[in-house]
Amino acid sequence: MRYHIGVISGDGIGPEIVAEAKKALDRVGEAYGHVFEYEEILMGGCSIDATGVPLTDEAIARAKACDAVLMGSIGGDAATSPWYRLKPHLRPEAGLLKLRKSLNLFANLRPACLYEELKEACPLREDRIDGGFDMVILRELTGGLYFGERKTESVDGVLTAVDTLTYNENEIRRIARRAFDIAMKRRRNVVSVDKANVLDSSRLWRSVVEEVAKEYPEVTLSHMLVDNCAMQLVKDPKQFDVILTENMFGDILSDEASMVTGSIGMLSSASLNDTKFGLYEPSGGSAPDIAGKGIANPIATILSAAMLLRYSFDLDREANAVEAAVKQVLKEDYRTIDIMPQKEPQRSAVTQVGTKEMGDLIAERIRYYEK
Ligand code: IPM
Ligand code: MG
Repeated sequence: MRYHIGVISGDGIGPEIVAEAKKALDRVGEAYGHVFEYEEILMGGCSIDATGVPLTDEAIARAKACDAVLMGSIGGDAATSPWYRLKPHLRPEAGLLKLRKSLNLFANLRPACLYEELKEACPLREDRIDGGFDMVILRELTGGLYFGERKTESVDGVLTAVDTLTYNENEIRRIARRAFDIAMKRRRNVVSVDKANVLDSSRLWRSVVEEVAKEYPEVTLSHMLVDNCAMQLVKDPKQFDVILTENMFGDILSDEASMVTGSIGMLSSASLNDTKFGLYEPSGGSAPDIAGKGIANPIATILSAAMLLRYSFDLDREANAVEAAVKQVLKEDYRTIDIMPQKEPQRSAVTQVGTKEMGDLIAERIRYYEK
């Protein structure tokens, strides 16, 4: 088959890590007889430099026309980059928010699991991670505080800012259904996270999620307040299978969950709508401090490409082959700097490699499997 993939390399380490994910996809193409065509799309700081805005209407139309989009990362150092002297709606991040909204990418999947080989990078005590953990955070991505009305104005001479948190029942229903569908393919457990002891939007959230749960009698649903969830993630991460939550809570909790794995450079993500289309990106940011040095970890982006194969193209076998290649490389003790063991003797037992080498090692290990 022929597939058309939009590629948003973006800023910082984006172009370096995306190049390695394309390498993996090309290897999949060779092994399984697919052709992946890429179309570079500008977004973020590089788009500001070229066009004056972080995302043009033309870029949105081109992304829409692709079968799926693979993204690196966008943005720069807010303290030094001129992009952050622009008005908020012209900064790099505004491009990403606009793309999510324009493509209706309401479902953001952020898996966080503990890799056996990287266990010692986990900052949690050993007894807390005994047996590992493997969760997916499903974050609502096109509603809530990030898309509500906002303004800053002077009220009786006092500067006052307002952000609005709005959800309607349909927005909640569709993301809840997605959570239960995902849970059906996993351990059939959903924890819905809200702040129903304070917020109206959370109370509506809770009642709609409960209504949807009736359609899925095989899935266990429980509710957890967001502050408690923040605590439980570090206390006992293995209790979670699917965490379902609204936009801002999901933004915060997914960063926390990734840190708990100890290896944010390993975590992929997918943003999906009601069709097969999706935007796939690593969970980490643009890391401007290490951009261009050839040391960034490309694994999260390569695993995002695997998610792309699975969710947008239904190529499960190919996605498994990419994931197996990543595991193999870790088992053979190759590491980028961010996942190097800190202590001896483990440190001397592994080989430190750069971005390109890691990409090569993984691509070489992508094999053809009968099924
Ligand atoms: C993320 C990021 C974005 C978000 C920013 C860059 C707007 O933090 O994808 O989690 O908050 O959604
Ligand atoms: Mg975030």
